[in-house]
Order: sequence, then C-alpha cells, then structure tokens
Amino acid sequence: MVFSACLATFLVLGLVPSSLGAQYLLKENIIGSGFYDHFDWEAVDDPSHGRVTYVDMQTSIEQNLTYGHHDTFILRTDFQSVLQPDGPGRNSVRIRSKNTYTTHVAIFEMRHMPQGCGTWPAIRETKESDKPAGGLVDILEGVNDQAPDTVTLHTIEGCTMPANRSQTGITRQLDCNVAVNSNAGCGVSLTEPANYGPDFNANGGGWYAIERAADHISIWFWPRSDRRVPHQVKSGGVLVNPKEWGTPSAFFPNTSCDMTKFFEEHNIIINLTLCGDWAGSAYSSTDCPSTCIDHVNNDPAAFKDAYFDFAAVRVYEPLVSDK
Ligand SMILES: *[C@@H]1O[C@H](CO)[C@@H](O)[C@H](O)[C@H]1NC(C)=O
Ligand SMILES: *[C@@H]1O[C@H](CO)[C@@H](O)[C@H](O)[C@H]1NC(C)=O
Ligand SMILES: *[C@@H]1O[C@H](CO)[C@@H](O)[C@H](O)[C@H]1NC(C)=O
Ligand SMILES: *[C@@H]1O[C@H](CO)[C@@H](O)[C@H](O)[C@H]1NC(C)=O
Repeated sequence: MVFSACLATFLVLGLVPSSLGAQYLLKENIIGSGFYDHFDWEAVDDPSHGRVTYVDMQTSIEQNLTYGHHDTFILRTDFQSVLQPDGPGRNSVRIRSKNTYTTHVAIFEMRHMPQGCGTWPAIRETKESDKPAGGLVDILEGVNDQAPDTVTLHTIEGCTMPANRSQTGITRQLDCNVAVNSNAGCGVSLTEPANYGPDFNANGGGWYAIERAADHISIWFWPRSDRRVPHQVKSGGVLVNPKEWGTPSAFFPNTSCDMTKFFEEHNIIINLTLCGDWAGSAYSSTDCPSTCIDHVNNDPAAFKDAYFDFAAVRVYEPLVSDK
C-alpha cells in the first residue's frame, strides 16, 4: 500500500524519469526481527568443512546467536564454550533468503562484520541446489581478518570477463570457470578503504550493494565515512537507480558471458564459518596464534567480535520488467 501510494505520488508529480526500466522498487525492507520472516535458518553440515555447528532458528535465539531488535540484527558464533576436541564445532549460524532473485538490487547496510583469527564470513548469492551450474556471486567474503574483500563470480565453463572494465577495483582472474585454478573464479579486489574486517568495523561498517541485470552484475561498496554514498542508498529509498551511483567497485559485463545462462534464480546466503577449506588452510600464513582448530576449541573469548550487525538488507526489483 505504502509503496504504491508513494509511487502514485511520484508519477503525479512527474518525478520518475523517462528511463523507467533502470529503476528498481523496494520489495523487501528487512530490519531487526524481520530477518526471522525473510530468511530460513540452515542447520546443515557446513559445505566448507569449518569447525562450526550450524544451529536452527530456535537454538540461535535461545543462545542469543541471532538477535533482532529495532534496527539491529546480530548474527554471531558462540563465544562462551570451550569445545571438546572430538566433539562438535563451535555453534554458528547460516541463513538463506526465502525468496529467490534474478534481476534485482540488494543493499546490505552493516555496522560490523565478523572479525578474528579463524573467521570466514560470507554474503553470497547462489542456487545451492544447482551448483556450480546455477552460478555464484561472492559479494563479501574473506578469512582471518585479511583485507581486502574480493568480489568473485563462479560459473561453469564459458563465462569470462574482459580485462578492461569501468570499475574502481583490481581485476584478478578473468575466467569465471570453477574448473580453472582451483575454483578461484573471476575476482575483483576492492580498493575503497575499510572494506573488510577490523578496519571495516573500526570505521562503523558501511554499505555493500549488488545490481544483477540481464547484461551485467555490479557491486558497490561505500565505507561509513564516504560522503559519496548515494542518498537513495543511505536513506533506504523506495526507488533506486544504480545508474546514478557512479563507477562500481566491481563490474562484470556480459560481453563474453551470457548471464541469463550462467546465473539462475539465486537465494541470498549469509554464513559464518570457522577454519575449514579456506580460513583453515590459510591460517598458518597469518599472525594468528596456535592452530586454527585449537584456537576455535580453546579460546572462546576470541570470538566475541565474530558477529554481523545488520542495520538493514533491502531488496529491490525492477519497476518495469526489462524482459
Ligand atoms: C556459505 O555457503 C555457500 C553456499 O552453500 C558455500 O559455498 C560456502 O562455502 C559457505 N561459506 C561459508 C563461509 O560458510
Ligand atoms: C543478546 O545479544 C544482544 C546483541 O549483541 C545484546 O545486546 C544482548 O544483551 C544479549 N542478550 C543476552 C541475554 O545476553
Ligand atoms: C578501455 O575501455 C575504455 C572505454 O570503456 C576505452 O576508452 C579505453 O580505450 C580502453 N582501454 C584499452 C587499453 O583498451
Ligand atoms: C548481453 O545482454 C544483452 C541485453 O540483455 C543481450 O542483448 C546480449 O545478447 C547479451 N550478450 C551476451 C554475449 O550474452
């Protein structure tokens, strides 16, 4: 109701520019306890083999591993238990959006992301039931507090990126094929300050945004202190137009990648594991203490800062279908 009333006002006032197709309308404004309605809790074995036990919604509420109140949603690992070496991993949380998306914009406003040795947080869009054929977009991911974030697409064979692109980030590999170079994917490392880990948190976090369209995928990051964050992003506006947001941090055009073929309907997945395939294998090349598994088992207090604090997740869909 509210949306259509607003929209009617825009239309009456003639405020919607003629390029209607480039505009997106707010469909899900996920704030605080609203996360419980828009996401499923996945108490599954961690596919990345981390030293975690993903708990269900009720357990996460009872143990305060998720907490939704007013404009705050916290998602964290347990930071109180010492673990038995042969017992289950540290309790943590993995959530998946109930809805799936093709062409859309999603904005993730965070005040804090998980930090600490052994942590491996991720915000991704993928279709778990058809991987890797359904494609995967890593929006925010990293291990052991190592900045920067590298935004990465993973696909089956046949999707590559041009070397010369209009983006602020640094291009890594051009081939998105999971079979190339141990599933490195086609990544772009961000250059905006404070885009990951302790620096991100010290700066009060910021905004990650994705636009997925038929002919490109773009990701933007604005640190909290960045005065260039668009008003429509900062204010949680009903209408957004990414064409007005300036050069993206990472830009993936469809020049040599048919996006409609390599990317199916995706869920948003937010997960936080410890050690495992990446954080565990990279652990010894950091300044982190002990071994990853021993640290997780024996140093619960070290995981006090291993939490996301979301101010909002906002999902927008095209105002006028561009199909
Ligand atoms: C998060 O979930 C995705 C999709 O299932 C999986 O590929 C990835 O390994 C998980 N990452 C973490 C950090 O748990
Ligand atoms: C649960 O977590 C929230 C957010 O971190 C915190 O403010 C609150 O005090 C915690 N509640 C309990 C009972 O520990
Ligand atoms: C890169 O692309 C821009 C426009 O997209 C073009 O002006 C420039 O010449 C290109 N640079 C190279 C090295 O191809
Ligand atoms: C890129 O997207 C446009 C618009 O949807 C489409 O017309 C074009 O065929 C696509 N190119 C490739 C290589 O998939």
